[in-house]
Amino acid sequence: MKHLIAAGTLVVVVTIAIGLLLSNATLLPDQASVQAQAIDVQFEFHFWAIAFLFSLIVVFMLYSVVVFRRRKGETGDGEHIEGNTTVEITWTILPLFAVMGLAFWGSDVLAETQRAATDALEIRVIGQQWVWRFEYPEEGIVSSELVLPVNRQAVLMLESQDVIHSFWVPEFRVKQDALPGGVEMIRDLRVTPSKVGAYKVLCAELCGQQHSEMRADVRVLSVEEYEAWVIEQQTSIPDDPVLRGQKWATDFGCAACHSVDGTVVVGPSWKGIFGSQEPLEDGSSVLVDEAYLLESIVNPAAKIVAGFPNVMQPSLAEALTDEQIADIIEYIKSLE
Ligand code: CUA
Repeated sequence: MKHLIAAGTLVVVVTIAIGLLLSNATLLPDQASVQAQAIDVQFEFHFWAIAFLFSLIVVFMLYSVVVFRRRKGETGDGEHIEGNTTVEITWTILPLFAVMGLAFWGSDVLAETQRAATDALEIRVIGQQWVWRFEYPEEGIVSSELVLPVNRQAVLMLESQDVIHSFWVPEFRVKQDALPGGVEMIRDLRVTPSKVGAYKVLCAELCGQQHSEMRADVRVLSVEEYEAWVIEQQTSIPDDPVLRGQKWATDFGCAACHSVDGTVVVGPSWKGIFGSQEPLEDGSSVLVDEAYLLESIVNPAAKIVAGFPNVMQPSLAEALTDEQIADIIEYIKSLE
């Protein structure tokens, strides 16, 4: 009994020490969404549960090693112990209820993070190798960065043009896969940003060569700043087709794979490509003129430049209007 009280006291002390250490060690990134609040309460609980279970096992183990070690001159066998049914039933029933309780609490928090607000801002999120695109249907905006007003729920409608990607902003905590397969496979994710700031979308599903580079900027703005951004996006379309083309190439994510300074990212750089002869996979070559550029945007697999993977999807061109494609071609022509 004396040993039980001693070891039990040690368990309490070590639990408090480790629990305080874990919950103060800033293991989590900034908390920047309403959904993150309920999730972080669970994290906090788990830190303490981990501290208690670790102490329970390690304290009893070390206590036994030290206090019940073999002393000098002791040569006999230790006391023989048969099983203890009461203890066995207890350590089966207690964890069973603990796990059931956590499952119940977890599903309650999950439902909480999915609760819909009536004024939610709808945004389409399109993932493709290896870029994110954000479309605001109500506002008529296409953007390569996700801009959100603070304290208003955003419902992100996620889809993929090719393989499975996963939308994750660590500061928002919640995460959802973007699946290929059209309208039926669209999945939604609700986020209510609670803190003005700059964050990053990370792709959290291994999706090929540039997976680790598949990031996008997230900006959470005050309501006034957000409204100003919307108006700026709607009214700031340049008159010059070259500048327009540059804007579309950024908004639609072309720039994620095609550099304009000669460096090779995924696809051929656009610098100086117009008017050049490009060697093709099959050993022939092609003159890069307007017709070839158009074909390569609309039907990217038709002629693959030697040394580059055939990864671009024709669905990208479907998201663009004919005028936007013409602008992008003008922009490529300007990059000498
Ligand atoms: Cu997309 Cu990883």
